[in-house]
Amino acid sequence: MSFVIVGAKGMLGSMLSVVFADKHPILLDKDEIDITNETSVRKALRDAGATHVINAAAYTNVDGAEEHSDTAFAVNEIGVKNLGLICRELSATLVHFSTDYVFPGTKEDGYTEADSPGPAINVYGQSKLAGERALKESGCNFYLVRTAWLYGPNGKNFVDTMLQLAQKQDHLQVVSDQRGCPTYTKDLAEYVRTLLEGAYPFGIYHGVNTGNASWFEFAQKIFEYTSSIAIVVKPISSAQFPRPAKRPAFSILQNTKGPSMRSWQDALAEYVRGV
Ligand SMILES: NC(=O)c1ccc[n+]([C@@H]2O[C@H](COP(=O)([O-])OP(=O)(O)OC[C@H]3O[C@@H](n4cnc5c(N)ncnc54)[C@H](OP(=O)(O)O)[C@@H]3O)[C@@H](O)[C@H]2O)c1
Repeated sequence: MSFVIVGAKGMLGSMLSVVFADKHPILLDKDEIDITNETSVRKALRDAGATHVINAAAYTNVDGAEEHSDTAFAVNEIGVKNLGLICRELSATLVHFSTDYVFPGTKEDGYTEADSPGPAINVYGQSKLAGERALKESGCNFYLVRTAWLYGPNGKNFVDTMLQLAQKQDHLQVVSDQRGCPTYTKDLAEYVRTLLEGAYPFGIYHGVNTGNASWFEFAQKIFEYTSSIAIVVKPISSAQFPRPAKRPAFSILQNTKGPSMRSWQDALAEYVRGV
């Protein structure tokens, strides 16, 4: 078996590299592969003799995608199409990640794997949804793992941002009218390992820590678990914190068929106490 991790320098990719280290994966990022280019993908995956490809490469700048939609679609749609095509040629299994933002975010109790995605309300979500369709059309054997609100080492994320802001400010205002599933990259990488080793059927999965929170509740817990930081966190509405890309109000994913994951609070406690 030859495992390949694409996007290995990113936040999730770097954690996958740790969790799969004993499989001696081949680590590829932009210097070694351009997923938007079919020739580059074919050469890199053939040279690696790939039997299992885990794709953590993506265009992930949600606000930037509004202005750079061509790049977002090139990476998140065409990139996935290329990976799917070459994995089918090689009979390799492809694990690919998508997002809660493929849903419109109107279902208060959250979306299951059986819910049809769309319409996405921002360009990033639209480009990831196009990638999901390209993956399904490619004909390869795939695990499509939707995840959300990721944090972990080696990437820009909400937890690190809150902790950095708390160094400079004595109070923070955080949006309280958007709910989602905070998820630790370590737990997601282990979830993927269980999917593969447990020979789960190919298909769509929701890989998120259990439970949900608003960004405000998420921030409150970060500071509860880092009790040395004295800071006041105040709730505000999305209207008071306008961003280029619209955000869904109820961006909750339910994991009804994949390996179980611990609560978002337990995962967060482990991360912030180790930071
Ligand atoms: N972060 C979240 O909160 C979140 C939430 C839901 C779903 N997801 C999904 O989870 C996955 C991992 O996200 P992440 O936050 O770990 O991403 P990330 O940190 O932005 O890492 C993505 C990696 O892909 C690389 N890359 C970009 N374009 C490429 C190309 N054309 N060819 C090869 N590599 C390329 C990037 O390189 P550069 O940095 O040099 O561009 C980067 O190393 C993505 O599919 C994302 O959509 C993330």
